Amino acid sequence: MIRKKVIAGNWKMNKTAGDGAILARDIVAEIGRVTSVDIVLCPPFTALESVGRVLEGQAIKLGAQNMHPEKNGAFTGEISAEMLRTLYATHVILGHSERRTYCGETDAFINRKVLAALANQLKPIVCVGETLAERETGSTLAVVQRHVEGALAGVTKQQITTVIIAYEPVWAIGTGRVATTAQAQEVHAFIRDLLTKLYGAPLAQKVRILYGGSMKPGNASELLAEKDIDGGLIGGASLEARSFIDLVKAADAAN
Ligand code: PGA
Repeated sequence: MIRKKVIAGNWKMNKTAGDGAILARDIVAEIGRVTSVDIVLCPPFTALESVGRVLEGQAIKLGAQNMHPEKNGAFTGEISAEMLRTLYATHVILGHSERRTYCGETDAFINRKVLAALANQLKPIVCVGETLAERETGSTLAVVQRHVEGALAGVTKQQITTVIIAYEPVWAIGTGRVATTAQAQEVHAFIRDLLTKLYGAPLAQKVRILYGGSMKPGNASELLAEKDIDGGLIGGASLEARSFIDLVKAADAAN
C-alpha cells in the first residue's frame, strides 16, 4: 500500500485538560505503539499540554483544531503555529466546516493558515465539503474544487505530500447520516484527480484523503476499503477510547 492510513480524532470543544489526559491514557494503553496507522489526537487547546505529556514516547501524534496564520501580535484569543509547536503538536486541523460556518472562515483565510502551518513544519489536515443544500443543487464537486484549490494556493510540490485532506460532507457531520461509500469514493477520486492536475500523478498518489462525517466502527471498514479513502477524521466516535481504538483497528485491517 503506497499510502499509510490515518485516523485522527477531532475532539472539538470536549474534554478538560484532566479528562483529555484520561482518554489519551486509555487510548495509549492499547494502541500507543501502533505504527502501521498514523494516529493523531486533536484535543482543544487547553488540553494540548496534558494530552501531549501522555503521548510522550508513543507513536500517537498530537494535533490542534485551529491556528492563526500570523506569527504573533494583537490577535486576541488566537494561537500561533509556533505556540503549537512548542507543545509538540505535529498536526493542525484547518478549515473545518464548523469554523467556516460559525466563525466565517473563508478559503483565502484558510489558505493563509495552511501556508503558515507548512512554514512551521505543522502538517495541516485541511477540511473540505459541501452542505446539504449544495449537494441537492448538484454543486458538490464545484464546492469541493473551490475548497481544495482555495486552501492549497501556493502550496509547493515539495510541501503537498505533508498535507492531509479531509472530505467532510457537512450534512454527515455529527448527524449519524454517513455518506454512502459510493458518494464518498466519488468525491475522493475527484479530489485525487484535482491533485493530479495540480501536482502530477506521483505526488497526488501520495496525499492522504480522509473521510469525515459520522464515521464509526460499524461503517468504517466499508469506507476504508475504497481505493481513495485513506483514513478518517473522527468527531463523536473519538470521544470514547473503545470506539476510537476500534476505528484504528479497522484502518489497520484495511491497510
Ligand atoms: P463526526 O465529526 O464524526 O462527529 O461526524 C467529524 C468531524 O467534524 O470532524
